[in-house]
Amino acid sequence: MSNQIPVNISEQLEIPVIAAPMFLVSSPQMVVEGCKAGIVGTFPLLNARTVDILEEWMREITEGLEKARNAEPNRKIAPWGVNLIIHKSNKRFEVDLELLKKYQPPIVITSLGNPSAVVEVVHEYGGLVFSDVISTKHAKKAADCGVDGLILVCNGAGGHGGTINPVAFIAEVKQFWNGITILAGCLSSGRDVLAAQVLGADFAYMGTRFIATTEAIANEEYKSMLVESDVDDIIYTDAISGVNANFLIPSLEKAGFDLENLQKPDTIDVTHDQNEAKAWKDVWSAGQGVGAIKKVQPIADVVGELKEEYQQAVQLVSSQSTTSKV
Ligand SMILES: Cc1cc2nc3c(=O)[nH]c(=O)nc-3n(C[C@H](O)[C@H](O)[C@H](O)COP(=O)(O)O)c2cc1C
Repeated sequence: MSNQIPVNISEQLEIPVIAAPMFLVSSPQMVVEGCKAGIVGTFPLLNARTVDILEEWMREITEGLEKARNAEPNRKIAPWGVNLIIHKSNKRFEVDLELLKKYQPPIVITSLGNPSAVVEVVHEYGGLVFSDVISTKHAKKAADCGVDGLILVCNGAGGHGGTINPVAFIAEVKQFWNGITILAGCLSSGRDVLAAQVLGADFAYMGTRFIATTEAIANEEYKSMLVESDVDDIIYTDAISGVNANFLIPSLEKAGFDLENLQKPDTIDVTHDQNEAKAWKDVWSAGQGVGAIKKVQPIADVVGELKEEYQQAVQLVSSQSTTSKV
């Protein structure tokens, strides 16, 4: 299968997976342990509620990974990344961009807005920019801005999931896009990673699968709810932040929402400001792939399972293709 991932990155991966950035969930420990396990670890910059905390986190990640590389030079340790919200209402945009220049995360994921200014800064230090998109129109715009990767956020994805079916979305984007292609939405197992590759993706982008990890800063009740939930417990609604996103129904019930009468709020909050943080603190997001989560465990163990499932899927497919030749 042709692969657009640069060799200096692919040779450091155990499996082509990015642990997607998650508001109020991703932590620096999750990033470091994910990278040490051989997947790209990321976090949203705004998870660090102040610039000082952000600088502390970036130092912790760069030093943690450097230490791990020095201790085991032959171990695969994947690069790390951050998620930057470009929307004009992100008041920290300029300051956070300066910290990107200083700490140079190898991968920067942009959401909501024109990524051109970020592409300039990140390319200057040799990093890659991936943009998340939910439509082909949006994908074309990001491609025109010179990004290196497109993250196709499909239906059922955790957070502000899209509405397009992944099979249709990736096939359309591949008609005009030859860069790094990242598929997102309900990818939960190693078998799903292989399926994403078969569809033409270079990376599988997984959020929900990594919430119930010991390193995530999500609260323990949220993690237990994920273990107990399945696809029927997910609702796609604009009642929480004004923009459609997938949430755990039991968390809405617990927070006192009337499921029969959900109302879109007057204000729209999607840039992780104080209001959105308040809304997402008690109402918890998850994608339709939630049924794959069976226990809370260290991120390295999840990666170990993904690798094992991936190998099994590869063997299954190769035995099936052998059978079909007979
Ligand atoms: C709790 C939660 C928080 C999220 N926060 C962000 C975020 O801050 N920025 C972002 O770009 N995407 C965010 N997402 C979306 C993920 O980065 C990713 O696109 C999605 O989780 C992939 O789908 P999956 O959850 O089905 O694997 C979030 C998803 C979840 C579940």
